[in-house]
Amino acid sequence: MVKVDIKYTKLFINNEWVDSVSKKTFPTINPQDETVITQVAEGDKADVDLAVAAAKKAFHRYSEWRLMDASHRGRLLYKLADLMERDAKYLSELETLDCGKPVKQAEAEIIWAANIVRFYAGKADKITGNTIPADGEVLTYTLKEPVGVCGLILPWNYPIPLLTFKISPALAAGCTVVVKPAEQTPLTALAMAALVKEAGVPPGVLNIVNGYGPTAGAAIAKHPDVDKISFTGSTEVGRLIMNVAAAENLKRVTLELGGKSPLVVFNDADVEKAAALAHRAAFANGGQCCVAGTRTYVQSGIYDKFVAKAAEIAKKRTVGNPYTDVQQGPQIDLDMFNKVMGYIDAGKKAGARCVAGGNRQGKLGYYVEPTVFADVKDDMKIAREEIFGPVQSILKFDTFEEVVNRANDTNYGLGAGVITKDISTALAFVKQVRAGTIWVNTYEHVAAQTPFGGFKESGIGREMGEDGILPYLESKTVTIDLPKKPLL
Ligand code: NAI
Ligand code: MG
Repeated sequence: MVKVDIKYTKLFINNEWVDSVSKKTFPTINPQDETVITQVAEGDKADVDLAVAAAKKAFHRYSEWRLMDASHRGRLLYKLADLMERDAKYLSELETLDCGKPVKQAEAEIIWAANIVRFYAGKADKITGNTIPADGEVLTYTLKEPVGVCGLILPWNYPIPLLTFKISPALAAGCTVVVKPAEQTPLTALAMAALVKEAGVPPGVLNIVNGYGPTAGAAIAKHPDVDKISFTGSTEVGRLIMNVAAAENLKRVTLELGGKSPLVVFNDADVEKAAALAHRAAFANGGQCCVAGTRTYVQSGIYDKFVAKAAEIAKKRTVGNPYTDVQQGPQIDLDMFNKVMGYIDAGKKAGARCVAGGNRQGKLGYYVEPTVFADVKDDMKIAREEIFGPVQSILKFDTFEEVVNRANDTNYGLGAGVITKDISTALAFVKQVRAGTIWVNTYEHVAAQTPFGGFKESGIGREMGEDGILPYLESKTVTIDLPKKPLL
């Protein structure tokens, strides 16, 4: 086991490390061996009140942050990105400790996340409104102003990247934030907060309150002084947040809620390459990925060959100690481990053919064998529900029309992929499938510049790219009366 120095476990409010008001703490668990890594300060409503008050003060119209040049906000974010790269090794080791992902992957994610920060650093002084030829003798223009205090509620599957998806556009826009990391992964957000402070961001602009969803998370969603919520996680909690934050409190809300994304392989595909791509689509991050391509539709002409290849690749996938050179570590926690094993059982019971994996791996830690089901039917639970684990379902289809209907027959719409050499097939698929991102002959390519988010129950709004800053801005229309007669 690698020894990682844990520097921060308290709440981060107003650029200070503080205990929770209740002095309570909660354990964060190492998914490799199920031991307690450390105790972390547990925030609740009283702490959220303090964090929101700090964020509100930092958003005051005469505050240092509000009076700062936009270009200077950008420079602070560039500095943050540099600091993340400076500390990439430490951050990735800490990330692996808390969430079990392979350390090399964690390090690559930090470099990726630093580039997201840079994208929005460059955006800070390029946020512009319009001049508008309004009817009447007036001059009308729009200003894009920061929306205010933002509550950012995070999941555990990509702790550092998802933090940067939200804080980078929020800070570039001039907002202030209160972040609640997932209770499974409280540590790296604190390490990031230390870098935000080191970069020179003034007190109160970024605050971190660790704690549980129904307590700390709910207090943020309800808080009258929070103007906007950005949430990534389950559809179930997304709905709750929508009810409280949007319906009752009229906050602006963006949601990113996962999916059950189809990846469709046509007869003309190179089977080896397609199986390798479909494997990556399903198993990246141990399947703990919102856009995981978990419904692999394969056309009948290559189906059997594809299934054999998919099983072969899954059996070779290396699973184990994430500090070594493996492709997959443990699942995040006991709940998710049990949930995934429950789905594997349900697949077996429903009559799907398990051609790889299907069991727990080892006796200690939340390791699951990469599992492939063939002959999956659309109405099986494993084809309909988000499993969030290393489980691929392979389904057979005959025609384009049929597979588009089946691909769309889901409440989700986050991602979709198509593998074919035929440009007409690819473009028709792009047009007809309802999902926020469609990949052609690739999958899960998500860059700082590309808007990301879902159709249907996969969410509301977009993160990243040009679109990703819009939820952090309000439009203010300014109309000025112009003289109607010549001036003497
Ligand atoms: P979750 O949706 O319960 O948790 C996500 C975040 O929301 C955490 O920070 C949690 O503390 C917070 N939260 C929970 N209840 C809340 C409430 N009432 N008010 C405010 N915040 C609250 O997700 P969980 O339990 O970790 O995973 C359950 C399922 O969600 C997974 O099996 C997976 O299907 C899906 N999921 C999707 C993700 C995505 O990337 N879209 C990420 C994580 C999970
Ligand atoms: Mg939950």
